[in-house]
Parts: sequence; structure tokens; C-alpha cells
Amino acid sequence: MGGKIPGPHRCFTMRNPFARALVLGLGLFVLCAMMARSDRLDVRTTIVRTGTFPKNAIPAPQRPPAQQAAWVQQLATPTEEHDGKETASVGQAFLNVSHYMACDYNMEQLRKWKIKFGFEEKFEYTKRYVRAERLDIPRKSITNLRQNFLPERVKSLNVSKKYKPGVCPEPLTVPVSRSPFPSMANLSDFMFGVSTTYKRFSDPRTSPVNDWTFWLTNGKGASNGGKLVLTLTDASDEELENAADELFDAGIDADVFRSDANMLMAVRYLALVPLMYNHPEREGKRMRGQGWSKMRKKWLVLADDDTFFPAPHELAQRFRAYNEEQPMYVGTFSEDVNNIARHGSQAFGGGGVFLSVPTAQQITEDYDSCKTDDKVREANSGWGPQGDILLRKCIDENSETKLTLLNDLWQLDMYGDPSGFYESGIKPLSLHHYRGGGWHVAHPWHYTKVASICGEDCTLQRFQTADDFIISNGFSVAYYPEGIDFDVNQVERTFHPAPEDKEWNFDFAFGPQRQSLHESGRKISWDLQEANIQEDGSVSQIYVRKHSDWRWKNSDGSEMSEMDGIIELVWLPMH
Ligand SMILES: *[C@@H]1O[C@H](CO)[C@@H](O)[C@H](O)[C@H]1NC(C)=O
Ligand SMILES: *[C@@H]1O[C@H](CO)[C@@H](O)[C@H](O)[C@H]1NC(C)=O
Ligand SMILES: *[C@@H]1O[C@H](CO)[C@@H](O)[C@H](O)[C@H]1NC(C)=O
Repeated sequence: MGGKIPGPHRCFTMRNPFARALVLGLGLFVLCAMMARSDRLDVRTTIVRTGTFPKNAIPAPQRPPAQQAAWVQQLATPTEEHDGKETASVGQAFLNVSHYMACDYNMEQLRKWKIKFGFEEKFEYTKRYVRAERLDIPRKSITNLRQNFLPERVKSLNVSKKYKPGVCPEPLTVPVSRSPFPSMANLSDFMFGVSTTYKRFSDPRTSPVNDWTFWLTNGKGASNGGKLVLTLTDASDEELENAADELFDAGIDADVFRSDANMLMAVRYLALVPLMYNHPEREGKRMRGQGWSKMRKKWLVLADDDTFFPAPHELAQRFRAYNEEQPMYVGTFSEDVNNIARHGSQAFGGGGVFLSVPTAQQITEDYDSCKTDDKVREANSGWGPQGDILLRKCIDENSETKLTLLNDLWQLDMYGDPSGFYESGIKPLSLHHYRGGGWHVAHPWHYTKVASICGEDCTLQRFQTADDFIISNGFSVAYYPEGIDFDVNQVERTFHPAPEDKEWNFDFAFGPQRQSLHESGRKISWDLQEANIQEDGSVSQIYVRKHSDWRWKNSDGSEMSEMDGIIELVWLPMH
């Protein structure tokens, strides 16, 4: 390690003529110089640079579905249509920017959902319009509403039939704070470093690109000032170009580098620090004199490819309270006390590790001595060498800097159903481990879409209706047929820790958790699977429940509902 840049040194490769043009001139020179300096980082040769030109990439709108009934005995069948006439397309109603609401049945869309979610031919569908009232009030974790969630009976539909349009009930009105919209976030203080593989980057199941468009762009195809430095292990030139093109098209300001597959993962992680520190944009040097130019970075952030920042405005705000001119190492513990005992008192990287420039400088200076074979051995806690440990030791052993805890960052070291966390009414600054593979599955890119209407605060904010429903906005709609007779301020223990469950593993992070309502007949919920910003600016959220879901059983093991169901919430645009 630490060798020279091998072979014919290609400083950049690029297919996109826009990007190519960007790099020409001084930029290329600066980058080559930078790469020459950083060759000791073993980040080899190819750098692909992308820029960010605003592109009016409006997300393609989509449609939603419905829900279920056994718990409300009255099951209604909407009037079927027999004259073979097509029902008016719901889509048309949205073209008029007025608050016209359409409660007809788009059977074509319902059939698509049936296939997508693996439903049976007949399922429940409930559509509810929601109007956010933005007021000068603080964010509340849970807000009680006087309205019922279900103003009428739950409808079940046979997708092979047609139905006459229904009448829309009054929209649900929910008071929310006047929090800023995600599109207004300014992340120009931050440079983010992520190391992953091309395979994970390009596989639709693990690709982070959609997620990054949320927290690295203004939602309209332009950067929000946040800079991404991405290293892809052993990617070919063509793969680097593909990645750079994709990020460019998404409006993400990113530089893509190849990292050496011979480096251990833990070392590739640490190598992100000198790579970011030596990046010309860290000092505000920019290749173009427009847009977000000349913005010196204050925070260099290590993140995983499954780290998500759901409240970018608040994130930037919080960091303004710190003194970035001091050496600082900011992050979060694992929620599982076992992991702190096993790995150490340190930042757990998936929640995001924020280094001030002086700390990044120290690590860069000590880099060679921090990644020796001995250090790598010492960073093996029994679970293989850990990048988090390598980083902690590099700081600990060479400086007086100690970790500053920011507990609203979340590592999410938990297994099983994560609902208890997402339904706790919190406003997290980061989320992690949400792409399954042993960890939980969540869709934060979809969860946060509603913030374009009601503001950043309202993601995961809870609304409790008079008929015992709780909407955890963006995550789930849950119904409690025996009433809400538990403390909603306590986290439901729907999840469990890795290997040793001491019962109290999570207590320091969440407080003691209330017991899970799985398989008790006391809770049934629809979980958000997709959300879409529609042409008129309204946001449609599709909450889905399968009748066979193991969680929604009565205590005798019978299913709480025999039918699959969708609840579609449509958040009306603000004017
Ligand atoms: C919406 O449609 C109604 C009825 O067609 C019309 O009167 C109204 O002007 C439209 N509103 C807008 C904003 O286009
Ligand atoms: C749905 O409707 C079709 C056509 O009318 C009918 O053949 C089928 O039996 C119905 N399915 C259910 C589950 O009711
Ligand atoms: C973004 O924030 C930086 C400092 O944090 C500031 O200098 C810059 O003017 C801001 N940009 C915009 C467009 O508000």
C-alpha cells in the first residue's frame, strides 16, 4: 500500500459531453494535481466528475390504493357499474390545481397494485384526502384529531369489475408546524464520503441514487450544495462513467473514484477521510464560477450507502451550533448496548460520522500509521476489522479529540419489524440499515415525499383520530380495535437486538419499550410501500396490508382480516 499510481495514469474518463466540458481547463489540472497528491491513499487513477445543471426532472406521478374490514363489521361494496362505461380517470381531477377531490375507482391502477403487492382479486381500498394546516406551532410528536379516520364503511373491490364513483368525505385536516421544505435545504457546509461497490450502486434493490436525490438535491434536479465523494471498489472505467452519468442526471454533485479492491473494507472506509480532505472543493475551490461555488466545506461526513438523512434542513441547522474550527468528531452510538461493549465507545458509522476539518486534517496526517497491519488487527472486534474502530483509534491515539454524541443520528442496529421505531413520532436526523439483507426494510425516500407539502417536520409525525387510528405520516396507518390504552410516548418493542437479548439492550437509547402488540388482535396496520408527488403537487401515499401478515393475528392465531387492503392518503397541495 502507499505505492505510486500505477501505469498510464488517466486522470478522468467521461462520456457525458457536459461533464467532459466541465472538467476541461483549470479543473482538470487541479484534479490531476489532487490525484497525484492523494495517490498514497490508494485511491487509484480514474476520477469521473459530474456536475449539476438544473434539469426539470419532475418525478413521474403514480397512483395508490386501499384497505380492509373484518374489524369494522360493516363491509360495503361500492355500486358496480354495468353499462361498460369507463370510469373517469382519477388523474384528470389532479390536472385542475383546485382542491377538487376525486373518489372514483381507477381500475387499471388498482389492477397494477394487485400485481405489485400480490393481492387477491378482491381487496379493500380506502382513499382519504388530507389537508395540512401549516401554523405557527412547534412540531408535536402526536396530535389528536376530532375527526374520524373512517367516515364511512370500508369498501372492497373486485378488480375484474367496474364501480361508480364514490363521494369523497371531508378531508382530514391536520395541524403542522411551518417547517421548511426539503427543497430549501442548504447543505453546502458538507462533503459526504461513501464507499461501496458498483454492484450495489447499480442494482435497483440496493441503489442509493433515489435516496440521494432527496438529501443532496432540491428535488428539481439541482444540487442543494452538498457534495458527494463516492468510491466504487474495482469498478471498470465504463462503470465509473455510468455511475457518474447517473448521478449527474439526478442532479447530484458527485465525484466518482475507483477504490482498490485489495484494500480491506475497513481501510477503504478510513481512506475516505484523506480523499475528502485533499479534495479541492473542501477549501472552496470550484471548477465553475456559478451556483454553489466557493463554498468552503465545514464538515466532512462518512456515511454508508444505506445512510439516509430525512431532515436535511434540520441537519444543517444543528451543525451550525457546533464550532467547526475546533477538532470535532460527531456521531452516534449503536442503540444496542451489546455493540458498544463489543466494538467500543465510538461513532457507529451508519448513522453518519461528522468530522470537522481540523479532525480530518489530523487523520490525513496520521493516515499511514492508522492503517498498518497491526492497527487493522486491533480493529477486529471478532466481527472482522471494523472501519469505525480504525477511525476511532486513529483519532484517540493521535489527538485529544473525543466523540460528541448527536443522538438524533440513528445507526438502527436492530432486527425484525422496525415499526416501533418509525411509529414513535420522532424526527430522526439519519436512518440506516433499511435495505434488508438481515436488517430491516424501509423506504425513506418514499416516506419523506410528503414533506414537500407539509414541511420537513411532518415526516413521521403522528396524528391520532377519534376512531383509534394513528397515522405515522409516511410510514404507517395503524388501527387499534380495542382502543389506544397504552402510552404512545413509549416505543413499541416490535424489533429485537442481535444475538444476545438481555431485554434491556435498547433501553439507554429508547427508554424501556412497551410490549409489542403483534399477534394480540389489538393492532393492525397498513405500511407505506410507495408515495408519489403528482402533477398538481399533491402527494399520494400507498399504505398496504396483506391479510396473511404474521403480525396481524388475534391471540387465537386467526387472521384479524381475511382481505388484503390499501389505504391511499392524498395530501392536498398547499396554495
Ligand atoms: C378548476 O376547475 C373548476 C371547474 O372546472 C374551474 O371552475 C376552476 O377555475 C379550475 N381551477 C383552476 C385553478 O384551474
Ligand atoms: C370478480 O369478478 C369476476 C367477474 O365478475 C368474477 O368472475 C369473480 O368471481 C369475482 N371474484 C371474486 C373474488 O368475487
Ligand atoms: C448556504 O449556506 C452557506 C453557509 O452555510 C451560505 O454562505 C450560502 O449563502 C447559503 N446559500 C444559499 C443559497 O442560501
